[in-house]
Amino acid sequence: MPAARTPTLPAGPTLPVGPVSMKPIGVRAERPNVTTAASEAEGIAIRPVEEADLLAVFRIEKASFDQPWPFSAFERYLDEPTFLVAVDGTKVVGYVVADLMPNHGRALGHVKDVAVHPSRRGEGIGTKLLERVLAGLRTRGANSVKLEVREGNETAIAMYRSFDFQYLRTLPHYYNDGEDALVMVADLT
Ligand SMILES: CC(C)(COP(=O)(O)OP(=O)(O)OC[C@H]1O[C@@H](n2cnc3c(N)ncnc32)[C@H](O)[C@@H]1OP(=O)(O)O)[C@@H](O)C(=O)NCCC(=O)NCCS
Repeated sequence: MPAARTPTLPAGPTLPVGPVSMKPIGVRAERPNVTTAASEAEGIAIRPVEEADLLAVFRIEKASFDQPWPFSAFERYLDEPTFLVAVDGTKVVGYVVADLMPNHGRALGHVKDVAVHPSRRGEGIGTKLLERVLAGLRTRGANSVKLEVREGNETAIAMYRSFDFQYLRTLPHYYNDGEDALVMVADLT
């Protein structure tokens, strides 16, 4: 398996332990009177990754994480239908990697990696990638989806919460530097 995510981010509060919401996640949670970043990403196309995209993906990975996945990890997921890239014209500006795993006879989606180029963050590109990958996992038969995120990655946690991801449990010292991971899950039915 590829290395666990290790972005450098400030420490943040631990999320409260609570029951897993079974609310559907077809759309993001509503935020009245707020222009969301997602609406700013209209010129961005989301499409399945192609081999020619991998170098750009790897560059974004290296710019985003202290301990990036090796190039070979991305090559391994090349045929995964839920390995998607965000493109502005012909330029790759972000990506998401997700796959399916069997889970007691049902399919569980797993978002394994997501990043947006540092110069393009806050434009709604991450949101667009997540929307598309969750729809793709649902189409592939996933009933629910999980991910791991650094306890201190407040930006990513905020994004996941806006899609109704809920805290499930903590994986102590999950990352190489000793930081805990939060497992978050969302219902796709
Ligand atoms: C997490 C990441 C993919 C988000 O991508 P993005 O394109 O910047 O995200 P968006 O512009 O779609 O914003 C999505 C939500 O993230 C949160 N967010 C974005 N920028 C934020 C910031 N500076 N501070 C706090 N929250 C922020 C908000 O909840 C935002 O929703 P809103 O605009 O409706 O408030 C991006 O920050 C990134 O690549 N980070 C480094 C890699 C990483 O940590 N990946 C996650 C590993 S688990």
